[in-house]
Amino acid sequence: MNIFDEIVERASKEINEAIDQNKLSELKAKFVGKQSELSQSMKKLKDLPNEEKANFGKNLNIAKQKILSHIADQQNALKTKEIDAKIANEKIDITLPGRCNQKGSKHPCDIIKDDLVEFFTGLGYSVADGNEVELDKFNFELLNIPKDHPARDMQDSFYVDDNSLLRSHTSPVQSHVMLNAKGVGPIKVICPGKVYRRDDDDMTHSHQFGQCEGLVIGENVSLGALMDTLTLMIKHMFGEKRNVRFRPSFFPFTEPSIEVDVSCANCGGKGCPICKGTGWIEILGAGMVHPNVLRDNGFDPDKYQGFAFGVGIERLAMLKYGVDDIRKFYNNDVSFLHQFKGEK
Ligand code: FA5
Repeated sequence: MNIFDEIVERASKEINEAIDQNKLSELKAKFVGKQSELSQSMKKLKDLPNEEKANFGKNLNIAKQKILSHIADQQNALKTKEIDAKIANEKIDITLPGRCNQKGSKHPCDIIKDDLVEFFTGLGYSVADGNEVELDKFNFELLNIPKDHPARDMQDSFYVDDNSLLRSHTSPVQSHVMLNAKGVGPIKVICPGKVYRRDDDDMTHSHQFGQCEGLVIGENVSLGALMDTLTLMIKHMFGEKRNVRFRPSFFPFTEPSIEVDVSCANCGGKGCPICKGTGWIEILGAGMVHPNVLRDNGFDPDKYQGFAFGVGIERLAMLKYGVDDIRKFYNNDVSFLHQFKGEK
């Protein structure tokens, strides 16, 4: 026994009785803190004879370590007790609904595009892919639009460098397909894809939109066949009742050229801001492939004729689903997009 054992004993008793971590912190301050009996005993060290000093200091430290280790043991014991109590009280509510991932849906423009692919492949067309960054040569020159031709203004474009641009229509795919065929028909192909123009965005125009190109080359291809094909496509898309009109137009790569309008879904043809008061929305441009285009792309215009068309995907989607603003397709508003869940 030394003079510190009595302090250790007292501390042990109080530590054993402590019921929470706060009480233990208090006891730590009381028994080993700066104002504790043990710390204050250090002051006596200087008055002791030299031969007792070492022993005194050693016993004081041993007493301090005993108290600290007892406190640490008690802290751990209390922590374990707390965790055990928490586990005993915790209940898992297995009736709560689980967290599930929201299921996405097909974008309306993809629904239209897939529908076009299904329709045209059903008529024996194949599907070609094209480049979104295209050479000027394919986007314009091989389509009978040489440099400085005024028709280039019809499609104000985003140039990547002097010779390449973001394609302004899907028609360059015509050239790639014809050149690959090396002057030998027949060809029956569609190409759906994205195109880009420096158009100002409004209710019916976007600077980026989808088109689906169609090209048929053969030895007996007529304007009548083009009009029948487009009529079939429009009836497939909109049913029998929608009003459709064909009107003459101009494209440098087709002769003759036509454009096709469908009656406005919003006003039923009476005229409204979406159709700019005309009652019609233009959905496509088309025509008989110009002899220069046939020749420049390796086909003999005396032997072959062709028709081509380029239809706007968003415009079809607007008319089919009664969407009043093309920009809704790009705003990523989930409540808008979810309306198309379940559409074929
Ligand atoms: C063309 O792009 C021609 N390449 C179409 C063509 C192909 C004609 C083959 C003859 C032979 P146009 O610029 O009119 O034509 O565009 C075709 C369709 O794309 C339009 O009828 C319209 O439906 C859609 N479109 C055009 N500009 C925009 C735009 N800014 N935003 C959304 N859709 C557009």
